[in-house]
Amino acid sequence: MGRTLKIHGMLDPHVHLRGMEWSHKGTFASETEAALAGGYWAVLDMPNTLPSTVDRPSLDRKLSEIGTQAVCDWGVYFGAAKNGNWDQYNGILDDVCGLKIYNNATTGNLLIDDQAIREEHYQHWTAKKPIAVHAEEETVLDILALVRKYRRRTHFCHISTAKELEYLRAAKEERLPITLGVTPHHLFLTEDDLPALGSLGLMKPTLKRAYDRAMLWKAIGDGVVDVIESDHAPHTLEEKSSANPPYGVPGLQTTLPLMITAVSNPNWMSPAPWAHVKAMLSTNPRRIFGVQAPPETYTVVDVDDEFVIDKQWLRGAWSPFEGMRVRGRVREVWIRGVKVFDGENVLVKPGFGHNLFGKTA
Ligand code: DOR
Ligand code: ZN
Repeated sequence: MGRTLKIHGMLDPHVHLRGMEWSHKGTFASETEAALAGGYWAVLDMPNTLPSTVDRPSLDRKLSEIGTQAVCDWGVYFGAAKNGNWDQYNGILDDVCGLKIYNNATTGNLLIDDQAIREEHYQHWTAKKPIAVHAEEETVLDILALVRKYRRRTHFCHISTAKELEYLRAAKEERLPITLGVTPHHLFLTEDDLPALGSLGLMKPTLKRAYDRAMLWKAIGDGVVDVIESDHAPHTLEEKSSANPPYGVPGLQTTLPLMITAVSNPNWMSPAPWAHVKAMLSTNPRRIFGVQAPPETYTVVDVDDEFVIDKQWLRGAWSPFEGMRVRGRVREVWIRGVKVFDGENVLVKPGFGHNLFGKTA
């Protein structure tokens, strides 16, 4: 075994676990197993599922299914709906990690492109829990106007362009209560990879120019980026190779090795110091969502182990990073003093995971 690193309580605040009517893409069991194999203690599940998590019955259905299946700890987002579901907020606040508002088109049917409806959601979400937003390019400015007016803590998901970074840097200087996340696919891939990747490189936000990618790394170096989020979004290979492929790529298993590879290679796109990368994967997301890792909850990763990402290592899943040489192999994951992953196998039964929010926490 090479040099090992210990990381406490890794939290991915942006995943799409599927389950329910989309269980053919992935189940709460299979995708939380991928989380453990990726070194994560906990994940927060987005609401653009089938059914969408936009009212009490759909939330209850998700809570019960994820509760019986999850092998890691978890939380779920409530989704803002375009028909105005703010009357539901009082009844669901205790059970969710935050609110998600989709302001640009993506998988699912939660798009809200009417600024007046967005504003109603901002007005009614009086909870201290964050609002996570999908906002691209000029839409970032629309959301910043609402943050300025209502002062709600807002997390900008999967930032991918130099322009968005410029807006958010200025907003941070203005001391607005905002944070931002970037994904590994925007940090490691660009639109130049699309000819080779085909529809496996299709996600929202889309892959961008090499210049945008360079600016993302610079923003990490400057400490402007708060979180690395996988935006784990499995679809079947059949769906991805169809005439109308859905947006999204899996990422829970590849995020940690990719980040360790970047840190350990001085030639790799101006890598950031390890302490900051570790913070973006654990302490920062925990702070943003106000959760503490339980005692004895950590990941041991061998930073010297180099390998090629292939189907076997991916446990049968596909990845846009297949064929890439990386370093950083997860050897052990511990949750609440229980060894839950030994580097090859998940050692706990479905239902082991706790809800980090709400009554069952
Ligand atoms: O590419 C994406 N896929 N982006 C999203 O925002 C949603 C996700 C999904 O659910 O498939
Ligand atoms: Zn997403």
